Amino acid sequence: MALFSFFVSLCLLLPSSLAIYQPASLTFSSTEGGLRLGGTGSGPTIVIDGQDWSGVTRAGNDLASDFGLVTGTKGKVVTAPIGLSNTPVIIAGTIGKSLLIDGLISSGKLDVSVIKGKWESFSSQLVSNPVEGVPSALVLAGSDKRGTIFALYDISEQIGVSPWYWWADVPPKKKTEIYAMNIKKTQGPPSVKYRGIFLNDEAPALSNWVNANYGKYDSRFYAKVFELLLRLRANYLWPAMWSAKFYVDDTKSGPLADEYGIVMGTSHTEPLARADKEKVKPWDWKSNQSGLKKYMQDGISRAKNWETLWTMGMRGDGDTSSPTLDASTLLSVIQYQQSILKSGLGVSDLSNVPQMWCVYKEVGGYYQKGMDIPKDITILWSDDNSGNVQRLPVPSEVSRPGNAGVYYHFDYVGDPRNYKWINTIQLSKTWQQMYLTHQKNATQIWIVNVGDLKPLEIPISHFLDMAYDISKFSTADSTDPWLKAWASREFGAEVADTTAEAMATYGKLIIRRKYELLNMSPFMLSTVNYDEAENVLSEWDALLKETQKVYDSLDSTTQIPFFEMVLHPIMAGGIVQRVYINAARNAAYAKQKRMSTNVLAADVKAAYAQDSVVQKRYHSLLNGKWNHMMDQIHFGYNNWQDPSSNTMPSVQTIGTTAPSTGIMGVSVQNSAASTPGDAAPALSAIDPYTPENRTIDIYARGSGTVDFTVTPNAAYIRVTPSSGTITYPSGTSDIRATISVDWSAVPSGSSKVDIAIKPSKGNAVTLSLPVNNLAVPSDFKGYVESNGAIAMEMRHFTSRTPGSNGANVDVIPNYGRTDSGLTLMPITAGTQTTSTGPKAQYAFYAFSSSSSAKVSVYVPPSFNVNPSSPLKYAISLDDGPITTVNPTPSSTLGSMPSGWSESVINGARIVTSTLGKVEPGKHVLNLWLLEPGTVVHRLVVDLGGVKSSYLGPPESSKVGY
Ligand SMILES: *[C@@H]1O[C@H](CO)[C@@H](O)[C@H](O)[C@H]1NC(C)=O
Ligand SMILES: *[C@@H]1O[C@H](CO)[C@@H](O)[C@H](O)[C@H]1NC(C)=O
Ligand SMILES: *[C@@H]1O[C@H](CO)[C@@H](O)[C@H](O)[C@H]1NC(C)=O
Repeated sequence: MALFSFFVSLCLLLPSSLAIYQPASLTFSSTEGGLRLGGTGSGPTIVIDGQDWSGVTRAGNDLASDFGLVTGTKGKVVTAPIGLSNTPVIIAGTIGKSLLIDGLISSGKLDVSVIKGKWESFSSQLVSNPVEGVPSALVLAGSDKRGTIFALYDISEQIGVSPWYWWADVPPKKKTEIYAMNIKKTQGPPSVKYRGIFLNDEAPALSNWVNANYGKYDSRFYAKVFELLLRLRANYLWPAMWSAKFYVDDTKSGPLADEYGIVMGTSHTEPLARADKEKVKPWDWKSNQSGLKKYMQDGISRAKNWETLWTMGMRGDGDTSSPTLDASTLLSVIQYQQSILKSGLGVSDLSNVPQMWCVYKEVGGYYQKGMDIPKDITILWSDDNSGNVQRLPVPSEVSRPGNAGVYYHFDYVGDPRNYKWINTIQLSKTWQQMYLTHQKNATQIWIVNVGDLKPLEIPISHFLDMAYDISKFSTADSTDPWLKAWASREFGAEVADTTAEAMATYGKLIIRRKYELLNMSPFMLSTVNYDEAENVLSEWDALLKETQKVYDSLDSTTQIPFFEMVLHPIMAGGIVQRVYINAARNAAYAKQKRMSTNVLAADVKAAYAQDSVVQKRYHSLLNGKWNHMMDQIHFGYNNWQDPSSNTMPSVQTIGTTAPSTGIMGVSVQNSAASTPGDAAPALSAIDPYTPENRTIDIYARGSGTVDFTVTPNAAYIRVTPSSGTITYPSGTSDIRATISVDWSAVPSGSSKVDIAIKPSKGNAVTLSLPVNNLAVPSDFKGYVESNGAIAMEMRHFTSRTPGSNGANVDVIPNYGRTDSGLTLMPITAGTQTTSTGPKAQYAFYAFSSSSSAKVSVYVPPSFNVNPSSPLKYAISLDDGPITTVNPTPSSTLGSMPSGWSESVINGARIVTSTLGKVEPGKHVLNLWLLEPGTVVHRLVVDLGGVKSSYLGPPESSKVGY
């Protein structure tokens, strides 16, 4: 859809622009045929016709001061081309609104044929002798008001002023020289026509902050939001609505939005530019039609002179369904609304009047019943509030003149639980859902619920950049390059890779479960199998360590935005994880009578206390600029709604009376037993391909000191450390010993080794370790079974085969809960079959045999966006029968597919199919993705050894890669 054309001759040779994905037209040193625009001691004169839109002049003034932020010398805006000798000149204007621009066009000096008449497009080029006495000027011509505004802000971003310079304190990049290159570039129209955000569920954080800084949601606050949106090349806003009435709270806000160039909308539950809080009572079409009609008419007369995208339809009071509405009544409401729009706006038809009807919650049920929605109204499909788009245009809907759009969520209040504290968005998932949305032609409106706005800077930027130019996001691996470009703009190229990697890792850690859901009972991570809980904690710790290093490398002004957007979520989020994971470990250790139960209890308390320290740190940045932005309660949820205060999970402590079986206790992975006392558990078997280390925990179960030795009865087994001392309360209370094997000395086949752990006082423990000396053939490439399980990450296929029509299965890096996703591309390839469609193959080597092997396929909680072409994959083992699966149960619009709640809580659906009999030897698992939008993000083959855990077994060993 996007018609971007770039006539860029030099840009490959020149340093890349600071602007994300915007072709460079500026450089910071003298360039052949270029024009110096500003630098230390001189700023440009920006000529903007006095007759042009005042919003263009306003943005011009922003650009003039942005030069000051970057070079120390501001530019200035003038309304006529006089007094321009000895100053760099930028001429900016809107075609048809600027005499200067129109004059350059008619004199043949400026060719705007590529952009003329298009939506929000602009050209940027040097023009010689544009006016008397000016040898050369940079000319920015907009096809319309926002086209010109975007051209001006494009220069701001390129010189080094981030759209987030105020909202996230990104420091302007200092420059001494700024030159325009002698190139012509054109941009636009954007891929999505109306692109914006919804400030919602704004209490407590945003509202408290607004009250402290502005007293209410007034036009000074909105001016900051409008400017941010325009700098992000967005154009559309749903204002805060729970504690605010946009047009009423400050009567300057409505006209100001129009002046800036922001298209105002209202949320799905607020028809015709009226606020929820203005609703007449009773809010009921049946009993108070005259009251409701007046409310709607008044909305039109109030906003009719300002650029508005009208919200059509209605719902019940307070974001709920209305008991007296049904499909036919709602249709008559919409017909009435269209009639008053015509009369109120004085137009005979509405084809040029943007209108939106949001198919949200129960409204979907009405549509499903066959509502014949007027074709000039944009159907705004919504996600499930958890980032999974429910429905997209089907073939019978794609030719509607009003087209379609999507209402998406980065923040939500409701089922299964609120998430409005900090950023919990996996960008690769946003990519997958919104790219699908674009390819299914829902391109009229993209609006995303951003809660308080502030902690969601990164997902907002990503979403709006996709909406502006989807062509930069046309491959499944487009997210990480975007993150790098984003990090480079905000913090500098030196830390772009590490920052991008940190945020990509954060996405995987957080898609597993949102913070508010971590305390669900039972706790999801296994404290027993695969060391899962500890491993997840280590992942968070490692991420924090790397991110802290990046932070430490930055100058102090750049540290501030880095803290706000990157370090804070990783640090604060990591604390919540630590609190819950260690609380679960504390309970498990208490059962084992480990004295370190008390250490974990103290750790939970310390981490919980650290939470408010980190909150204070955020709130005290820049003398309290963002005080209140972290006011959201985030501990202790027990239903969807916020609790009234944070509460720490309960932890146990244990006294020091040692069990009669002695002070020393021993536990091993994959068992909850504590021995002596419990029967000594067998260690899980080890073979050369076991992905996890085998370990033995030796720990104090009372006060005192015990020395111990660990002695295997085979020379090829080594345990490190082989002896030690455990002491409680002061000293080392727990020692983890790791088993290693000298495979060259192990007898072939299966054997058993005894490992004796002898304390200086108390009972000895002998553990039995099964050792399997196995080997795959030297030419084998693929995964290798260990202990009856093969866990595969999608990007490690052994081969893939394109479909006969060119479709393929492509990797989405950093997708899903552990590693990567696999999806069908391109989306336009349509439904595939197993005979001609693309497939991926995952070779594996089995040592066990199983008569009833199973494969678990991990998929995201996606919806069947086209109910008659549901998501679909097929799987087979070797040349065996092919099983075709629709992973998402069918559902009707307005209701959720079965298992929905569990799937969004877990960030995955796990669908298990039978593979049947598996003999030892080489095998190939074949996976076809048969419907665009289908993603798989993990495969686990169970030959009888898979233990219960949340994420599944650790990835199996691979050979031959
Ligand atoms: C309709 O709403 C108006 C405005 O709130 C109210 O004054 C009026 O009493 C309502 N009418 C009925 C019939 O309830
Ligand atoms: C989307 O729109 C394009 C351009 O109008 C059209 O060629 C294409 O067939 C549409 N795609 C779908 C899925 O309808
Ligand atoms: C296993 O232990 C070794 C040696 O301590 C360590 O380097 C490695 O990272 C461990 N591997 C896992 C999966 O924990």
